[in-house]
Amino acid sequence: MHGGLDAGELRALGLAPEQVLDFSANINPLGPSQRVRHAVAGADLASYPDRESLALREALAGRLGVGAENLLVGNGSTELIHLLARSRLGPGDTCLIFTPTFGEYEAAALAAGAEVRRFPATEAEGFRWPIAAAGRAIEDLRPALVFLCNPNNPTGIYLDRHVVERLSAALGPEALLVLDDAYAALADRRWDALPLLDLGNVAILRSMTKDHALAGVRLGYLAAQPGVVAGAGALQPAWSVNAVAQAAGLGALEDAAHVEAAREVIREARAYLHGELEGLGLAVTPSAANFLLVRVGDAAGLRADLLGRGMAVRDCASFGLPEHIRIAIRKRAECALLIEALKEVLPP
Ligand SMILES: Cc1ncc(COP(=O)(O)O)c(C=O)c1O
Repeated sequence: MHGGLDAGELRALGLAPEQVLDFSANINPLGPSQRVRHAVAGADLASYPDRESLALREALAGRLGVGAENLLVGNGSTELIHLLARSRLGPGDTCLIFTPTFGEYEAAALAAGAEVRRFPATEAEGFRWPIAAAGRAIEDLRPALVFLCNPNNPTGIYLDRHVVERLSAALGPEALLVLDDAYAALADRRWDALPLLDLGNVAILRSMTKDHALAGVRLGYLAAQPGVVAGAGALQPAWSVNAVAQAAGLGALEDAAHVEAAREVIREARAYLHGELEGLGLAVTPSAANFLLVRVGDAAGLRADLLGRGMAVRDCASFGLPEHIRIAIRKRAECALLIEALKEVLPP
């Protein structure tokens, strides 16, 4: 149910991972910055890591203008999604999820014993949620937790601040709106969600695995009111965030220019790829994020054909979209190779 290369599948195809261009995971196309590589090389491998990730939390707090008590660092934001679900949901609670979206929200809510309700966006409406109806759904269902991914994976739809504020107001003060910001740092027209913490019922999830290309290291953080942070933190296993990850995070924070450079690469390559895909007669959902959702018909078949040519794309069947693929934006020259491969495999 996730992007990224599958070692077993590649082995069965006789492919080594380095022979595949991975468009299936939405990672900074420039890879990790030199500062991160340097910081990681200096990590203390022999000692236990700081259980509280104190240095990283303080560095984050300074950059973000929040208190260290507002932050919980996790082994990827996936861990934090599960900790939030376990700390805020139980049997008898409802979790509302704006779909189609990242699958871990539902997995976490179900694992916590909650009932999951979905608020779907349809292709006919350009994958935009009808917001007035969403507010009414929140008022009717009274969920304890709402997951909203912004920009949304896999559609690339990016809601404005005032829309999120409306949803927060509909939810009421006791429940929690979890805004997953994972792709905001790589997005166009990005806006800072952190001031939304003042609304009281909003928590923000950030993944450092996308914008800083640390997917293999695993690093993310939750920014929320201290009570929400403490509730999730109490359930976190000791030493969850290892020393290499903490060092990588500190290095990454020193290199904002690296993410800025990636945004430029993405903006240009996305425009190119979008145009070329439409030129091939494919319907592409306009995206603010570092990936494109594309209607192709038989997504599983197309994915298999492309993988045979050393190009991995995400088949969106697990999002409930079996006729779509999701393509991560890589450097323009790599996107050009994907277009060439698509020309070979698409029916004339
Ligand atoms: C929207 C969204 N949130 C969170 C994650 C998980 O990120 P992490 O690598 O930090 O666990 C992903 C990964 O694909 C994602 O797409």
